[in-house]
Amino acid sequence: MFLGLDVGTGGTRVVLVDKSGALVASASCAHEDFRSPQPGWAEQDPHDWWRAAQQAIRDTLAQAPGAKILAVGLTGQMHGAVMLDNDGNVLRPSLIWCDQRTQPQCDWLHAQFGPGNTGRAKLIELTANPALPNFTLTKLLWVRDHEPEIFARIAHVLCPKDYVRFRMTGSYAIDMQEASGTLMLDVARRRWSTEVLKVAGIPESWLPQLFESPDVCAHISAEAAAATGLPQGTPVVAGAGDQGAGAIGMGILEPGSVSATIGTSGVVFAATAAPTRDPQGRLHTFCHAVPGRWHVMGVTQAAGLSLRWLRDTFAPGVDYDELTAGAAKVPPASDGLLWTPYLLGERTPHLDPEARAAFVGIHAGHTRNHFVRAVMEGVAFSLQDTFTLFAELGIPVKGVRLGGGGARGKLWRQIQADIYNHTVDVLTAEEGGAFGAALLAGVGCGGWATLEEACATAIHVADQIPPRREAVARYEKAYRAYRAVYPALKNIHA
Ligand code: XUL
Repeated sequence: MFLGLDVGTGGTRVVLVDKSGALVASASCAHEDFRSPQPGWAEQDPHDWWRAAQQAIRDTLAQAPGAKILAVGLTGQMHGAVMLDNDGNVLRPSLIWCDQRTQPQCDWLHAQFGPGNTGRAKLIELTANPALPNFTLTKLLWVRDHEPEIFARIAHVLCPKDYVRFRMTGSYAIDMQEASGTLMLDVARRRWSTEVLKVAGIPESWLPQLFESPDVCAHISAEAAAATGLPQGTPVVAGAGDQGAGAIGMGILEPGSVSATIGTSGVVFAATAAPTRDPQGRLHTFCHAVPGRWHVMGVTQAAGLSLRWLRDTFAPGVDYDELTAGAAKVPPASDGLLWTPYLLGERTPHLDPEARAAFVGIHAGHTRNHFVRAVMEGVAFSLQDTFTLFAELGIPVKGVRLGGGGARGKLWRQIQADIYNHTVDVLTAEEGGAFGAALLAGVGCGGWATLEEACATAIHVADQIPPRREAVARYEKAYRAYRAVYPALKNIHA
């Protein structure tokens, strides 16, 4: 069996997958530490991830006594900066992916590469991405600017799951997909960017060794074996960030295959044969967890979060099935009610942490059902913005697979098929990043010969939902109106 471990934001999840691709056991352990010392700041203590990982591994193994674990794969929340001293001690809480404090460091970095837009263009040339507050390097630069005494003691920098790997094996290692989200990787050449490191003043010796995702990069140490119950010497593969491993877990391997996942945030993810850059940096261009391939993705910050916010604020205690059953009675496009989901600012396509959400076009005939439907449609319009960018950049879309909460209910599935104007596939089981990490582990230890074989064994399409012609026409019109909302309100929000 292969063990996948996902160091999420809210908690750590572990799954055991057998050679037939079946889920044999799983357990989760919530994280206890989350700090926001100022609005927009987000920090977690890396020790808490390691505590949760040990607990979740032990709880999973207890469900499968006698199971022989052949390899371990890691995944987790991306972009966080874990800073360690020379002895591997944590120097301060990690600034995590959703921390928004580093816009000044982004502006500084762009300016180092040239005036105005040329600096940004140069950085996109070197790393395939512009500086965004989410990315690891900008977090290190914040510590340089505000906590120079800590910066002076840094000897190692890791991402969250790679810190857990360090505790499991003693090795400093990272995979190409995760490394892409640090803004320090030359994504096209799959190696650290010496030019960016030099300009930013980051010694390459701080960075972990690079591996492709299915590669074995370390082994469980005696100490970690005692703490978790895993056999000493079990191989650990490099794994991938949650989006990369999630894509493996949904079988998004070939150029042209695309997933649309609505979890707390929303992601449209496409595998590509080459590093396709958006000259304006509105999409992320990263190495894929498939060796020798790349991917692009657009991120909606508040996708499932929009519906949760609506429910908790205006219909507390009402369950989602009741809310969506009501929304299903409302016609497509919600009688003119629009929702732009920028509750947490927005990444794709606006790259604007100050963007704010809005309901637009309310009239006296609108009911709660309309508001619920408008929120579900607005989230899908936001994901459609990424499909629009794919079309602009010539990124092919052959098949679309749905993931997350957005794949579970009938209504959100149909809304997505109609808005993307594409048949959407729903999988028999969609287990997220931990499942993908287990598949990477299985390939790394030779359980399956290739990722293609692993995915063909483990992943199956349960249902296909085609778009409905009349709804598509209505949504095309509503989408044009949706696209006009952000530019009209931008100055008011500012
Ligand atoms: C990806 C991203 C999130 C985090 C948290 O760019 O920011 O998926 O990894 O889950």
